Amino acid sequence: MIEFIKKLPKAELHLHIEGSLEPELMFKLAKKNQIKIPYNSIEDIKKAYNFSNLQSFLDIYYAGANVLITKDDFYSLTWEYILKCKENNIIHTEIFFDPQIHTSRGISFKTVICGIKEALEDARNKFGITSNIIMCFLRHLSEDEAFKTLEESLLFKDSIIGVGLDSSEIGNPPSKFERVFKKASELGFKLVAHAGEEAEVSYIYEALDLLKIQRIDHGVQSIKSNKLLERLKEEQIPLTVCPNSNIELKVFDNYKQHNIKKLLDLGLNVTVNSDDPAYFKGYLNQNFINLYNNLELNKEDIVKLVKNSFYSSFISEKLKIEYIKRVDEIFENKRIKNARYY
Ligand code: ADE
Ligand code: ZN
Repeated sequence: MIEFIKKLPKAELHLHIEGSLEPELMFKLAKKNQIKIPYNSIEDIKKAYNFSNLQSFLDIYYAGANVLITKDDFYSLTWEYILKCKENNIIHTEIFFDPQIHTSRGISFKTVICGIKEALEDARNKFGITSNIIMCFLRHLSEDEAFKTLEESLLFKDSIIGVGLDSSEIGNPPSKFERVFKKASELGFKLVAHAGEEAEVSYIYEALDLLKIQRIDHGVQSIKSNKLLERLKEEQIPLTVCPNSNIELKVFDNYKQHNIKKLLDLGLNVTVNSDDPAYFKGYLNQNFINLYNNLELNKEDIVKLVKNSFYSSFISEKLKIEYIKRVDEIFENKRIKNARYY
């Protein structure tokens, strides 16, 4: 089964590029750019990755991103993630970036987006990996600051497919950004938002009804409302679930408690993603392997999760069909092989 998981072509829809900053690169860039980080060694960094909730992670994540200064740094960050895509058989990825983490430190929007974009272009040319970029607003900052960021992004509009909402969820409900998302929609951006990662179901309702989003990032708290579950099933709204992240940030006590299999069995459109893999003990394959080891997912479940990601992505219908065919080729192949042996 683990070999099967590794072989399947996959899409990733919930990945913060700043969350793919491995300790080794963080240490190297801190030295190069003479940025002070509160660690003396790579081992020290790894030891600090012990989180009690979302906020305890975000504090460390924002501090780590301080080492990213030049366009080359953003290129290296993104390229390292692309190499992981290759390793994990990810053939399409939709990556988040948080421009405000960087512009607030005096790094230009252009530096950030150009470094990321160049690496993604190379990924397409060298490996055939396709991608989209989604810009997230930090929800702990003001509506005004989100509007400013939206304005700044317009120079690079062709490179950004959509907008999202991330950072500290509790106390920063989607309604705070209703007008920003309305404007982003009018400008032609696709819309997603983190909702129901830690906060109550009202945050998911607000994301759907006020922000009018097309995908919910996380959404695992939806399990607390049967009415909401029915709606998510009926409308087949994608949930970009991040199992390792939920375990590391103590959304669930342990892997056996994770509700992704329940959501899948209820008929919701759930997908598997790595969120911040450098901080959460593994990339996409490891998330699938952990689910398989703990929740008794079968081959059909895994293929369904993988197909959901392609169907829920922002690629053309034509490319979706092409990618789904590639998934089926591996799946069918396996079934024929099994039939021969058993
Ligand atoms: N930014 C990076 N990872 C995040 C997460 N899991 N939730 C909210 N904001 C984030
Ligand atoms: Zn996230």
